[in-house]
Amino acid sequence: MKNIQSIKGTKDTLPSEIHKWQFLEDTFRRVSTKYGYTELRTPIFEDSALFHRGIGEGTDIVNKEMYTFIDKGGDSVTLRPEQTAALIRSVVQNNLLQLGTTSKFWYFGPYFRYERPQKGRLRQFHQYGAECIASPFPESDVEVILLANSIIREIGIEDYKLNINSLGSENSRNNYRDALKSYLIENQDGLSEDSKRRLDINPLRILDSKDEKDKLIIANAPNIIDYLDEESKNHFDTVINLLSQLNVNFTIEPKLVRGLDYYNHTVFEFQSNALGSQDSFGGGGRYNGLIEQLGGKPNPAVGFAFGVERLIIILDSLNKLSELESKPDFYISSTSEKYLDKVYFVSEVLRKRNFNVQNDLVRKSVKGQMREANKLGAKYAVIIGDDEIAKGTIILKNMTESTQVELAFDDIEKHQF
Ligand code: HAM
Repeated sequence: MKNIQSIKGTKDTLPSEIHKWQFLEDTFRRVSTKYGYTELRTPIFEDSALFHRGIGEGTDIVNKEMYTFIDKGGDSVTLRPEQTAALIRSVVQNNLLQLGTTSKFWYFGPYFRYERPQKGRLRQFHQYGAECIASPFPESDVEVILLANSIIREIGIEDYKLNINSLGSENSRNNYRDALKSYLIENQDGLSEDSKRRLDINPLRILDSKDEKDKLIIANAPNIIDYLDEESKNHFDTVINLLSQLNVNFTIEPKLVRGLDYYNHTVFEFQSNALGSQDSFGGGGRYNGLIEQLGGKPNPAVGFAFGVERLIIILDSLNKLSELESKPDFYISSTSEKYLDKVYFVSEVLRKRNFNVQNDLVRKSVKGQMREANKLGAKYAVIIGDDEIAKGTIILKNMTESTQVELAFDDIEKHQF
């Protein structure tokens, strides 16, 4: 019988890789807490209408990429393709917003998009993200960018680009959309078939096209910055001035629009050359209309998310994280199963002292046990044999220096290793 395989575009996280995930998850929690964000977890699947309404009918995610199915009760449910819409659903449903202050949340978990798998692009992938709700002011845009930057730095990525743009108020965005559409219609003969199809539904998405023909036309397309109203321009100027004063490096990217419909004002994306064609490892922006659109009281918000698999690709390319692999401090061995009680006594004493301890569970020879201790990368091996039992001692072997000393059995509780 043929072995059953994992589903295309999904990945097991194997023991040899788990230390990377644990390190990243620890950093996400620690840094988010420093910025005053608390964790919120929502179910993996939601009412399909949430994402249709939240992300937008004209987007690739809703049009082509959602895992949607009818459950046994006849309801349409969708595996979440992103967190923002689901988090807002939860915040509204559970009345989490407090008057007169912001509410700030972070999240980490699996997300699902039916995309063509390639390096850095999976059908089940993971995001870490954060959302800051209820401040319309540019300093909250800056705060989420600072949080994102801190995380990138703390996990050890230094070489990356932050691209930033503004889509302005809904009004500015609509005016721009009309101007862009007219320009693209004038030039539609030169557009790819895909982009021609998008012209009516979502012309802004054409700006993201990777097609060389499209790129030529896009290069001369109008820029959204020229369509910002006074208030939108002020908002954006304050964001970039504050970022500059704080020495945050960024590039204004006038054609950056992002792939979800809920954005207005500030949008941003993080890019790394280590990623190949899927070069964006995170992105976000302001979404002042989404909460009202999902049935809550109107409330502005801003946030971002990183793709965790993409962070790991970057860290692997830098050869970071390998030293974080967990290795035992001690390997406790004996010359005979007669001494198992002593082996486990010593192991438990050391574990109580917070050391990582491994034992042989398949009754290998002492030589075999030493080979295993080496393979596991244990710092010390303890050997208990006939002589030691007679003298009430143990042998403590330093595996890196290949030296050994004899310790009294009772010293294990207090010896400074
Ligand atoms: P997004 O740009 O669709 O934004 O996704 C954020 C990040 O998730 C991307 O930059 C990428 O690193 C990762 N990602 C997306 N799709 C895949 C995939 N198929 N495989 C691997 N990684 C992927 C959002 O999802 C917004 N909710 C972000 C946000 C939060 N905006 C405001 N708040």
